[in-house]
Amino acid sequence: LSIAPRVAAFGPGRVNLVGEHTDYNQGLALPFAIEQGVTVTGRAVPNRRVEVQALDLGQEDSFDLDAPESVAGWRAFVRGAVAELGRSGVELVGASLEITGDVPRGAGLASSAALEVALTLALLSLSGAPAPDRTELAKLCSRVENEWVGAQTGLLDQLCSLYGRADHGLRIDFRTLAVRPVEVALGEHRLVTLGSGSSRINVASGYNERRAQCAQACELLGIPSLREATLRRAKALPEPLNRRARHVITSNARVEQAVSALAARDWAALGQLLDESHASLRDDYEISTPEVEEAVRALKTAGALGARIMGGGFGGHVLGLLPPGTIAPDGALEVRPGPGARVSGPLN
Ligand code: GLA
Repeated sequence: LSIAPRVAAFGPGRVNLVGEHTDYNQGLALPFAIEQGVTVTGRAVPNRRVEVQALDLGQEDSFDLDAPESVAGWRAFVRGAVAELGRSGVELVGASLEITGDVPRGAGLASSAALEVALTLALLSLSGAPAPDRTELAKLCSRVENEWVGAQTGLLDQLCSLYGRADHGLRIDFRTLAVRPVEVALGEHRLVTLGSGSSRINVASGYNERRAQCAQACELLGIPSLREATLRRAKALPEPLNRRARHVITSNARVEQAVSALAARDWAALGQLLDESHASLRDDYEISTPEVEEAVRALKTAGALGARIMGGGFGGHVLGLLPPGTIAPDGALEVRPGPGARVSGPLN
């Protein structure tokens, strides 16, 4: 009996330069895929089961391909990916999968999206399904997170993981889902992330609450999304909705300014935009923590031109832009714009 060939799928994590909490408000963001991510390798098996090992955690799971049941933790991603692919009409086959990764988990670097993207690409490839449209696949991955994991996140991380391009950021317009690569030619400058050590216990609840507040602001303003809001009208909203809306409006503007700063290689301007983004997320969106403030201070003390909290908030990694000749604080991780998700195989 011959053993089925092995495939490997890689989904990168991401760093977001500016444009945070704008995706579910039909706004703008400027992320890039990083070189770190999650790899899922696997083979098809001749029965209707999925066996999966999370090698970094030393844990495993096994379930019926045709009836994945909801569970907590990392297993929800695998079961959700199988269920959502099945629901979308893909004829899946049984599989034996292994998951490994080098993107810090739960750190604001989109390890969840990296896992969803790697899982769905591996399962699709093993099933011999045609290459999917990347935007549709991003939406499917986000349903895994919304419906199986319980975080009401937007499409930022999944689109970035799937569309990433070496040496480029992506200007994403969430109203049209248009993705435009923007060159990131840092030269001697470096982008680094630094863990804050915050536990991120209330991440999902805090995130879902912010999202609900944005929806409430739209309802009061009588507009379909905060993309349509203006600073003048947002001012009249009650606390804290006025500040939530102001964060989204100013964030969209910062994305356009950052695109210009990248084109002009104006690093001082980009650094200032990072600082302004941080102040807005701390004061208007209120998703910072004392540990995050400490990590931002450490980067600024090291000479960063700008530093900010990144991703969903309430902890995780912060991002800093270091000019030539500066020494990154201990534990900092250099991040560079890398290629998007890819599948290789058969490997054997
Ligand atoms: C998390 C979510 C994204 C996005 C960011 C904040 O990473 O997964 O959809 O909302 O937070 O910009």
